[in-house]
Amino acid sequence: MLHAETGSRLKTVQLFYDDLAPNYDHEQFQTAVSMSKRKEYDLFSSRLPELFAGAGRVLEIGAGTGIFTLPIARHCREVVAVDISRNMLEVLAKKAADEGVTNIRTVICDVEKSAPDGTFSVICAFASLEYMADVPGLLRRLARHLEPGGVIYFITARRSFLRFFIQFGNAVRQRLWLKSHSPWEIREMLRTAGCEQIEIQSHLFKVFRCGGMLLEVVARRTAGADSLAARNQKV
Ligand SMILES: C[S@@+](CC[C@H](N)C(=O)[O-])C[C@H]1O[C@@H](n2cnc3c(N)ncnc32)[C@H](O)[C@@H]1O
Repeated sequence: MLHAETGSRLKTVQLFYDDLAPNYDHEQFQTAVSMSKRKEYDLFSSRLPELFAGAGRVLEIGAGTGIFTLPIARHCREVVAVDISRNMLEVLAKKAADEGVTNIRTVICDVEKSAPDGTFSVICAFASLEYMADVPGLLRRLARHLEPGGVIYFITARRSFLRFFIQFGNAVRQRLWLKSHSPWEIREMLRTAGCEQIEIQSHLFKVFRCGGMLLEVVARRTAGADSLAARNQKV
């Protein structure tokens, strides 16, 4: 049975990742799914100096075992790493301790219900927005935590014919239908959230009419974004 109801859906996510946590990194880099994670990591690595070097506070949504968190932490003042799975964050914390990285704060929470206080220079997410029940609502709320000129950066599933088969496989394995979006939908969500300078690129298996399986998205919050977001919500 697929979980439509939010509470049981969340429990399913939490239990799945609590179980997978000790083997997550191995699975992501040493098995058939590694093609996607390697591509995500390559894209991220190319953006790391531009987006994270010298950044102040960074918020990472669904940080998991910290595959992206640790390199980010080496470039910025502080990373707040949020995840719903305690075990995933425990793996992250152990890796950080082993590597002497001390500027990561882990927060166990459902990011759709509560976000950490304060503002951030960068808010990022890698392969986690797919799990959110209300992505437009989440982006609107997160954008309010961005400093003026701050950046939202994420890599997420692009809706496509090929992606459908991955979603199907995932539904069998996790009992969850993960979200995917078109570039147009993502642009609208970010515009409504008060972001401008929205850059969206498609990657991985870009073949005619399929357009790729991943979206890499960079958007900036401009000055006056609060009033822009409020105006967009009224229309
Ligand atoms: C596919 S993993 C990605 C982990 C990491 N970003 C990476 O790319 O290796 C998705 C992560 O999102 C987390 N997650 C899913 N729904 C969440 C929610 N509502 N709040 C916080 N974390 C959530 C899961 O627990 C899991 O660790």
